[in-house]
Order: sequence, then structure tokens, then C-alpha cells
Amino acid sequence: MAKVTVVGAGFVGSTTAMRILQRGLADVCLIDVVEGLPQGLALDLAQSGPIERFEVSITGTNDYKDTAGSHVVVITAGFPRGPGMSRMDLLTKNAAVVSEVTRRIAEGSPGASIIMVTNPLDEMTYLASEVSGFPRSRVMGMAGILDSARLAAFIATELKVSPLSVEAMTLGSHGEQMVPLARQATVDGKPLADLVDAAALERLFKRTQSAGAEIVGLLKKGSAYYAPSSAVARMTNAILGDTKEVLPVSAWVSGEFGISDVYLGVPARLGRRGVEEIVTLELDGAELEQLQIAASAIKSRCADLRL
Ligand code: APR
Repeated sequence: MAKVTVVGAGFVGSTTAMRILQRGLADVCLIDVVEGLPQGLALDLAQSGPIERFEVSITGTNDYKDTAGSHVVVITAGFPRGPGMSRMDLLTKNAAVVSEVTRRIAEGSPGASIIMVTNPLDEMTYLASEVSGFPRSRVMGMAGILDSARLAAFIATELKVSPLSVEAMTLGSHGEQMVPLARQATVDGKPLADLVDAAALERLFKRTQSAGAEIVGLLKKGSAYYAPSSAVARMTNAILGDTKEVLPVSAWVSGEFGISDVYLGVPARLGRRGVEEIVTLELDGAELEQLQIAASAIKSRCADLRL
């Protein structure tokens, strides 16, 4: 049975563990610095097994020895955003946590793929890649699937259709410099741009760009976790199941879209070896420009990280 370690037993980490177990994807090791927290959650989750009908196991621990030999490591450790806080405010705080966690994880699971969830996403993905020394293809970040799902959910609500009729894709960075792709947004195969006016399209895109902040503002304490954990489970399934699905993730770009040497939200083929290919889509001039602006902003923030 495959093994997935989830680092951070907070809201995102514990719901990720739950989704992986309920889908029977792998045995899970849940680790946190807080004593008792991962152990307690692991017991609770294991006790849902006879009802949910899963046979995979879960261990809660504070000891990195228990994470050894993982195939996938999901990093959610760190601090979530508070109201009014940008993902960038988290940069320094979470960089220290992510460096430490990555170092410990890489020792015991040198063959793992790392899925970063901690924000600011693209920068933390870069940091984990540098600290782990893993091939870039085995370090990636979760954002695009979540942002695309948020856009699809808003479109479904706006047009009063099933979310299953909607296809949508966002690229770029996870945040204000997200790039929603108008031509990839369809409802039952029809281009969204033919179904709503330009103002509605703009409104849907803007709401998607600040969808995380909208939730933070409502919750007052903490940030989103149900949809983020769904997105992580989808990536985990693609890697462990070697599905070769093309999904938008934060991946290392080397020349695609005229952009190099940065982790950025792009369509990527996921399989057993991690990101197996970056799939280039045809973008219009404005989209390409937005993507390049997002890439340079991420690059300059990464340059500020003291590794
Ligand atoms: N090692 C392991 N766990 C840690 C460490 C560390 N060095 N530092 C903090 N943690 C744990 C905390 O103890 C806490 O249980 O990380 C967990 C974070 O959980 P929450 O505070 O509930 O945050 P959550 O909502 O899960 O978000 C985690 O994901 O979406 C992003 O922006 C979000 O960066 C944030 C991350």
C-alpha cells in the first residue's frame, strides 16, 4: 500500500487525511508539532473507517521517523491567513516552518513527491524544492485545481447549471495575479464568453481571484480547507495512480510560455514521477502577458527568501 505523509494536522491537513482515507488512496501518516493533536485526530479518523468502509490506515505522530518511506508528502504546516492579511504577509513566518519540515521529510523519504499547500504557495513550493534538493518534477504546489474549481463553482451558480457541466482553468500565481482563462471556460462545451456578457465574465474572474480572501473574511479565524483538501486528494490520486491527468498545479517552468526558472501555476501532466510534462496551451496576448507578470513577481519574492 502506498504511504502519504501529511505535515500539519490543522484544518487543511486533517481534512486532507480524511479525503485520502475515504478514497482509499494510501495509508496516511499525520504529523504535527503539537503533542497529542495528530494522535487524537488519527484515532478519530481510524474510528470512521468501519462506517466509511475504508481499509487504509492512519497514524498520528510528532516523530519524523514515522514518516519514512512516504511516496507523497503533503505540506500544510504553518500559519493560515487572518482577515486583512495577504498571502505574502505569511512569507517570512511560513518560510521558517517549511524549511524545517522539508529538511526533515527529505531525510526519511528521499523518493517522495512533495505537494506544497502552505502559503504563499508558489514561493513555498520553490523553497521546498531548494531545501529538499529533489528533482523539480517531484516538488509541486496545490493551487490551480482549487482556483479552477472556485471559478467553476461561481459559473455554475451564476448560470444555474450543474457544476459538472462546467470546465474552467486558471493559471499564474495563487492570489491576485491568478490568470483565469476565458477560452478554457465552457458550460456543456459552449464557451462561457458566449453565455454571459463581458461585465459578468469580469465579475466572475475577480471573485475567483479573491475567493480565498472572501472565505477568510467570513470565517474571521483561519482560511479555507474543504476545497483545498479536495484538490490535494486529486493530485495525490493522479501521482499514486499514475493517471497522467493534466491538471493546473504550481510546477517548475523551463521555457514554456516563454518563462523560465520559476514555480508557477501551469497545466501539468501528473503521474508516478510527479510532474511529467508541462502542457502548453495557446494563450492570447493579454493572458500571456499576465502570466509573465505573475512569474516575475514570484521570482522576485523568491529572491528575497533567505535560503
Ligand atoms: N511542523 C509541523 N506542524 C506544524 C509546524 C511545524 N514546524 N508549525 C506549525 N505546524 C502545524 C500547527 O500546529 C497546525 O496544527 O500546522 C498546522 C496548521 O494548521 P491550521 O492553523 O489549522 O492552518 P490550516 O488552515 O490547516 O492552513 C495551513 O495551508 O492553505 C494553507 O494558507 C494556509 O498556510 C496555511 C496552510
